[in-house]
Amino acid sequence: MTPPKETPTTDFVTIFDETYDQPDCRAYFRMMDALGYRNQHHAVAAFRAGLDEVMRLRGLDAARVFDFASSYGIVSLLMGHEMTLDEVLRRYRAPQFEAATPQEVMDWDRAWLAERRRRDVAIRFAGLDVMPNAVAYGVQVGLFDAAFAEDLEANDPSEALALELSQVDMIVECGSVAQLMPRALDRMLAACGPVKPWMMTSPIRGNERAAAAEVLHAHGMVQEVLPLPPFVHRRFESTEEQARAIENAQAAGHDTEGVETIGHFHAQVLLARPEEERTDPATWRLPLRVPPLPEMF
Ligand SMILES: C[S@@+](CC[C@H](N)C(=O)[O-])C[C@H]1O[C@@H](n2cnc3c(N)ncnc32)[C@H](O)[C@@H]1O
Repeated sequence: MTPPKETPTTDFVTIFDETYDQPDCRAYFRMMDALGYRNQHHAVAAFRAGLDEVMRLRGLDAARVFDFASSYGIVSLLMGHEMTLDEVLRRYRAPQFEAATPQEVMDWDRAWLAERRRRDVAIRFAGLDVMPNAVAYGVQVGLFDAAFAEDLEANDPSEALALELSQVDMIVECGSVAQLMPRALDRMLAACGPVKPWMMTSPIRGNERAAAAEVLHAHGMVQEVLPLPPFVHRRFESTEEQARAIENAQAAGHDTEGVETIGHFHAQVLLARPEEERTDPATWRLPLRVPPLPEMF
């Protein structure tokens, strides 16, 4: 799906609202496919390594992951299943998805995902997004054990959400929302237990905000950029979008030559965690690396 011309933009990224709240994931994943999204492919490899490390450090044999601004749950899907982003995006190109009803799509997806669930680790996933249909899909297909359609930027968490947050071990997010919505970040971390979860995010270069770092610091967390080369987030849709992205990335201190200048938004992985848990990523059990891209990527 190509986004409509009148698609609204903010100073940081184009927003494709109508695809974000359909009864099933087709429009969203087709939009990702059409725009060449790659962020989650790279970021989730780092998220998996970080989760393994926090579980090792804390002696956990099961983990609770909170997928912030989850949309249809692609981050949870890639963390909790033996599946690549490439496979997910290719799936919804199949003709059988053209005429299927939302219920059929959800039934098929539920069965497909159940077969590919990771058996090596027990993870409970909870999703949060302002779009009710997106998180409802995540529950229907078994991606989320719990899901919340709430806006923490505007309101305090409900009792159920606060309870969920009080027990999470890791917060993950792809898409920059955690950097761009410091009030939501503050409310989320305030609801977490006294031992804060690790938080791993993959914002577009230029979307890092001092306000987010300050919120993390106020909750006793230290944020760092993981030592990975910048990776593709998605293709630019227009020269105006590219110019805006280059300007934003440069304003944040990034050298954009050969990166944003070649036609894609680029992202990076930020890790925030309690000071006393700052182990060196080079010593983690799972190697921290950018995974090679399949042929189509
Ligand atoms: C760029 S999408 C990323 C979605 C998903 N994490 C992914 O990787 O595909 C950003 C998401 O943030 C959600 N969002 C926007 N404002 C939000 C808020 N205040 N709280 C939670 N989610 C929000 C949108 O509905 C959208 O699903």
